[in-house]
Amino acid sequence: MKLWGGRFTKQTDQLAHNFNASISFDRKFYKEDIEGSIAHVTMLAAQGILTDNEKNQIIDGLNGIRKDIDDGKLIIDDEHEDIHSFVEAHLTSRIGDAGKKLHTGRSRNDQVALDMKLFTRNEIKELDSLLKELLVELDVIMENNTDTFMPGFTHLQKAQPITLAHHMGAYFEMFKRDRSRLHDIYERMNYCPLGSGALAGTTYPLDREYTAKLLNFKGATLNSMDSVADRDYLIELLSACSTIMMHLSRFCEEIIIWNSNEYRFVEIDDSYSTGSSIMPQKKNPDIAELIRGKTGRVYGALMSLLTTMKGIPLAYNKDMQEDKELSFDAMDTTKGCIKLFTGMISSMTFNKAVMENSAKNGFTNATDAADYLVNHGVPFRDAHGIVGQLVLYCIDKNISLDEMSLDEYKKISDVFEEDIYDAISIKTCVEKRNTIGAPGVEAMKAVIANNKEYLKNN
Ligand code: ARG
Repeated sequence: MKLWGGRFTKQTDQLAHNFNASISFDRKFYKEDIEGSIAHVTMLAAQGILTDNEKNQIIDGLNGIRKDIDDGKLIIDDEHEDIHSFVEAHLTSRIGDAGKKLHTGRSRNDQVALDMKLFTRNEIKELDSLLKELLVELDVIMENNTDTFMPGFTHLQKAQPITLAHHMGAYFEMFKRDRSRLHDIYERMNYCPLGSGALAGTTYPLDREYTAKLLNFKGATLNSMDSVADRDYLIELLSACSTIMMHLSRFCEEIIIWNSNEYRFVEIDDSYSTGSSIMPQKKNPDIAELIRGKTGRVYGALMSLLTTMKGIPLAYNKDMQEDKELSFDAMDTTKGCIKLFTGMISSMTFNKAVMENSAKNGFTNATDAADYLVNHGVPFRDAHGIVGQLVLYCIDKNISLDEMSLDEYKKISDVFEEDIYDAISIKTCVEKRNTIGAPGVEAMKAVIANNKEYLKNN
């Protein structure tokens, strides 16, 4: 049944109906549609536009529909154009004429704008709490690894020694920013479009502020055309999801490298690995790869919606219906990936000895050897050159800096003394770096305390 048959003399072509219909995907927010309708009729009755009796009949009817759908007794079939038509048709068939008053002072344009906002608000909350679970997991790894040494990289070349806590701490910051982006989006979008009508408000004395309050919005939107045509908050959310996915993807890339036979810094648990159908020895990091891969799909949703919106004149146009499937998919994908990722890292083994050994072999302490010379009065540029010679010598001999004898050191510069060995030990190298945000244990402990405070309050 259509909501708009009156003006038409012909049936819609079946293919055109299918093409136009949105029920196959907007059924996802039946709860929000009903919640919005309940608030709407509550306001209509408070304003004397509906009687209390009509309001009660409608609310009982809507609650019954919601319960029946929840219980699987009422199936949302494809016969109706959209979820709004479905609910209204079922309401009228259940309670009669009062049901036909539900849509007083409302258009599907402001209705769908509301439904999508209600749905998105919940999604933002879910994304946020999943990110929090991930941060809690990172916090545990950080706390247990303030003295797990590993190489820090630039250009994927060993650079300077850091700790596993420090490396995890970098991701802690990223996901913390992701949460704050979600929070900003929530605050900005949290205004109620209902009561904007098709585009130009309505002639009924609606109390839009009251409806907004009933639905926990901060207030009513202030321009009825913008209210029905605004999809900015979805674009912002898809952008935030894209950034979350980008962070997960970088992290996955590192895990894939660390899990490789060459690195062996970590071992992904069997429960998050897969095998090969032909090569019996293989244990593949498919989950990490798939998260990395799904990132493209979420970026695609962002590009798709931006492109859909770019040429739409005010106010509502049907193009906007395209906002749903891709947003739903991006939200589900992002939530799923955060969940999987958290499970994967919480069950992953960190091979601390391998990491530490790697930090020792790769001249990650070369900067500290140069700093040693500087502390003994050698200008930094000269020190840099001297240590360069040391490194060349070690490469030739296939040894590390701490395996050189003092005689060998002295042959290149007689500034070196016995205390060079302590100065370039990985432990010393890390421990001396204690400025804010650096990997030294004291600096890390301060960050971890800060993170704990953050997790308590956010
Ligand atoms: N299914 C539509 C959408 O998602 C609902 C709004 C329909 N409004 C209209 N004027 N046809 O955008």
